[in-house]
Amino acid sequence: MKFFIDTANLDEIKQAQDLGILDGVTTNPSLMAKEGITGDENVMKHYKAICEIVDDNVSAEVISTDFDGMVKEGEKLAALNDKIVVKIPMIKDGVKALKYFSDKGIRTNCTLIFSAGQALLAAKAGANYVSPFLGRLDDIGADSLGLVEDIRLIFDNYGYETEILAASIRNSTHIVECAKIGADVMTGPLSSILGLLKHPLTDNGLAQFLADHKKAAGK
Ligand code: E4P
Repeated sequence: MKFFIDTANLDEIKQAQDLGILDGVTTNPSLMAKEGITGDENVMKHYKAICEIVDDNVSAEVISTDFDGMVKEGEKLAALNDKIVVKIPMIKDGVKALKYFSDKGIRTNCTLIFSAGQALLAAKAGANYVSPFLGRLDDIGADSLGLVEDIRLIFDNYGYETEILAASIRNSTHIVECAKIGADVMTGPLSSILGLLKHPLTDNGLAQFLADHKKAAGK
């Protein structure tokens, strides 16, 4: 399973990269705004800075909602660095843009996926990644993991190479459940990644080992 971090915060990206387990980064306009990154030039600079930290897979989202605008923005983003994956929303012009970028060999991540039909359409259009938003589905009481299972089944039925990027991850359990289903990638906050480390028996066990070692050494 690939691990992406879902943030525009450079320090958190560095921390995850330093752990040695990071495969990429996803951002969105809300995450950029949260870091106070505004204006075209600053946004572009920020994407460049992210690309300098990680090895590959930096999802950068277009703001336009019409085909021509998405193409123009996406091409500009893709030209920044080979690591950029253009993030396109699941709307009608977005589907056209996915096909356009696929034909041009520019990688895409289709965002805001909330149904299996949307994922199927994005795969048909040649998206490299589809991003079902788990946490937001949970928020409305929908079956987010069931959606990931359905997408897995559909992609396997037809051999689609589009990768399932489980997004809007809120906790470590989400990550484990997605791994059990066979999601190709997960993107979540640093806290959900670090949460995988944690088990009280590990902490207690380590404390006991260290105490026994100290006792045996007569310290
Ligand atoms: C995915 O690419 C999105 O940036 C993200 O996962 C959205 O998550 P949220 O629902 O926590 O905002």
